[in-house]
Amino acid sequence: MVTASAPAKVYLFGEHAVVYGEPAVPCAIERRAQVTVEEREEGVRVNLQDLTIDGFTVEYDSSDDDRPDVDVSDSLVDAGMGYVNEAIEQAREAAGAPEAGFDITVEGDIPLGAGLGSSAAVAVAAIRAATAELGVELDAREVAARAYQVEHAVQQGEASRADTFCSAMGGAVRVEGDDCRTIDGVDNLPLVVGYDGGAGDTGALVAGVRDVKDRYDFAADTVTAIGDLVRQGERALVEGDVEEVGRLMNFNHGLLSALGVSSRSLDSMVWAARDADALGAKLTGAGGGGCIVALDESEDALTALSYTPGCEDAFRAELDTEGVRIE
Ligand code: PMV
Repeated sequence: MVTASAPAKVYLFGEHAVVYGEPAVPCAIERRAQVTVEEREEGVRVNLQDLTIDGFTVEYDSSDDDRPDVDVSDSLVDAGMGYVNEAIEQAREAAGAPEAGFDITVEGDIPLGAGLGSSAAVAVAAIRAATAELGVELDAREVAARAYQVEHAVQQGEASRADTFCSAMGGAVRVEGDDCRTIDGVDNLPLVVGYDGGAGDTGALVAGVRDVKDRYDFAADTVTAIGDLVRQGERALVEGDVEEVGRLMNFNHGLLSALGVSSRSLDSMVWAARDADALGAKLTGAGGGGCIVALDESEDALTALSYTPGCEDAFRAELDTEGVRIE
């Protein structure tokens, strides 16, 4: 039996634009998905433990056609199962064991579909654990490449390498198309996360941005502008200029709003953090609902968020410099 874990992430800069080949800078945070894998005779049984605030447990046997009987939305179960099943296919392929059967338990404290990369963390940890259980040790880059194939398959081609590379490698990373690098020297950022308790539909939000981008020149220009901003943000990050990083996060949120992916609750959490003198605040991930990330060296933004209507949970998020690991 093997347990592997992989971290969640926030986007400092560049979500959505990264889908069109612009650079993005996500960074891993100390919230993890844990996947435990034990080989069995045949078939795959998955136990999805609480990855959300309202927990759920699913017993699901992939050799059986019956849907699991659970009290959560079908789409969340389907999404979770889709990522786990595709990750198992990747592990079987990597180990040359196409018929391998597994008992799998997924646990963690990453809200699902909320912009913190829960699906990437699950895919990364599942591939690392399942291959190790079959006696194959993949390095983090190989795990990232296979986890990207998982997201690509489940999200029908609409995925960047950003989430999976960041979760596998840890720390702050830069992704531009197929070019994935770690950014050295970033080991401490005063990150605060606010969570509205909701989730955005990543596929629908990505499709919506594609639509406005194809229809309006301003939206195509906005995507290019986000790319320019990310390049400046990366420079500020490497120079340790947190004020400039915060300023650019604020601009990035405005540009994401222009593309139509913010929401009332995300905007009110962003403004609560700014009113409390955060250096910057923006939505993180696909948007529509879910999480914001703020940069704040004091405790003020955290306190302000915990009193903000629509904010279900607020927490300080330490940068996680370690990516996927065996527990
Ligand atoms: O909301 P998340 O954590 O799934 O992030 C989505 C980020 C996008 O740029 C919108 C899509 C992608 O695959 O990069």
